[in-house]
Amino acid sequence: MKLFIDSGNIKEIEALVPLGIIDGITTNPSLLAKEPGDYKDNLKRICDIVNGPTSAEVVAKDYEGMLREGRDFAGLHEHIVVKVPLTREGIHACKTLSSEGIRVNVTLCFSPTQALIAAKVGATYISPFVGRLDDVATPGMELIRDIVEIYNNYEFKTEVLVASTRSPMHIVEAARLGADICTCPPAVIDQLFNHPLTTIGLEKFLKDWEKAQAVKA
Ligand code: E4P
Repeated sequence: MKLFIDSGNIKEIEALVPLGIIDGITTNPSLLAKEPGDYKDNLKRICDIVNGPTSAEVVAKDYEGMLREGRDFAGLHEHIVVKVPLTREGIHACKTLSSEGIRVNVTLCFSPTQALIAAKVGATYISPFVGRLDDVATPGMELIRDIVEIYNNYEFKTEVLVASTRSPMHIVEAARLGADICTCPPAVIDQLFNHPLTTIGLEKFLKDWEKAQAVKA
């Protein structure tokens, strides 16, 4: 399963990418709005750092506006993936942009039928938001199970990009269900390295080693 960072913060991205576990980046208007500087320059910089798919989301709500912004984003850098919301206009824009060879990530997906229509118009990625479903007492991972099953039934090429993740458990469940990608905030990715038994075990190994060196000295 691929791991993306859900962030528009260059420092956070620069800290994680060299570790070798990051395959791409997702941003959204809320994330980019928090960062200083020109958002297009920031996106280009992010693309260079990660050297992989980097989602940039349109803010237009109408079809023509989405096409305009989407084409503009796609021209910024070869790694840009255009993100459109799962609305009627977004699906139409996905159809057109995909037919032009532009990769599209359809975002704000909350139902299996939304995921089905995104796949039918050639979305490269579908982004179901599991955390926001959990927030309203609807099990987000059940949506992932449904989408993976539907996509497998019809051999859709659209990749399932699990979004709005809040904890490592979302990552475990996404991987067990066979999702293609999980996008996570840096704080969640940081948690993937830690296990108390690793810390305790390492301390003991090093203490034993030092003790033995002291005896030999
Ligand atoms: C995904 O592409 C979105 O940017 C993101 O995962 C939204 O997460 P949130 O629900 O934590 O804002």
